[in-house]
Amino acid sequence: MNLILLAPPGGGKGTQSSLIYNDFGIHRISTGDLLRKHKEQRTKIGKEARKYMDAGELVPDYILTEILKTELIKEKYKSGFLLDGYPRTLAQAIELESLTENINSKIDLVIILDVPAEELLNRLGARRICKICERVYNLKFHPPDNPNKCNEPCGGKLYQRDDDKPETIINRLKIYESKTRELLEYYSKMPVTQTLDGTGKVQRVYDRVKDLIEKVRQDD
Ligand code: AP5
Repeated sequence: MNLILLAPPGGGKGTQSSLIYNDFGIHRISTGDLLRKHKEQRTKIGKEARKYMDAGELVPDYILTEILKTELIKEKYKSGFLLDGYPRTLAQAIELESLTENINSKIDLVIILDVPAEELLNRLGARRICKICERVYNLKFHPPDNPNKCNEPCGGKLYQRDDDKPETIINRLKIYESKTRELLEYYSKMPVTQTLDGTGKVQRVYDRVKDLIEKVRQDD
């Protein structure tokens, strides 16, 4: 099954994707993670993307197309993939149609997670991530035992993402509102799209997501 998880920054895409992977084995393609890796490794793409990411702006579409083209043909996605953070613009959604067609594939389900802006602000400012195992915490909603250290055996140092600083968060949310609205309209007309309430405890949200995936799998 091929899925798109569409939600604003802090909407829970990463959190829900890893729960989906645990239950359904669907591999996640996070364009944010792929871009951060390029940034860290100082590749040509990383150097170009850095200025946009650090300001909370969208990275140009041609860079995303290049990344997706390389990623989607990997063997592990033959049994299904979950897109987290892509598409984000109408142009990307149209590009995705031809990218999936090229690999004889299609999108089976688009899940839109609906979360109000004030909750997103609360979540993003309090997000911390383990440097070693990349487990994601939230100092307000599900804190680690020690605010600087991962609970897992790795005991890794926790860090805050560069774009989770207050000014950048506000810009990311504005960009989402302005650039993604037409994308939501585009997908909401498609029969494969379902909107879910993305608020409440992580497990409550996941129960809704899981029910939906199971239903779509049964109908197939
Ligand atoms: P990306 O990494 O995709 O960031 P984002 O879309 O801003 O999303 P986040 O990763 O911040 O949030 P999330 O929805 O995954 O939430 P999470 O589960 O972590 O993109 C980063 C940047 O890369 C972009 O700004 C852009 O520059 C560039 N980029 C990426 N893709 C692009 C594209 N397609 N086109 C152009 N540019 C692109 O949860 C957040 C926090 O909330 C965590 O602390 C978590 O523990 C907590 N939390 C989660 N669920 C709940 C819950 N139910 N209750 C309480 N807390 C919760």
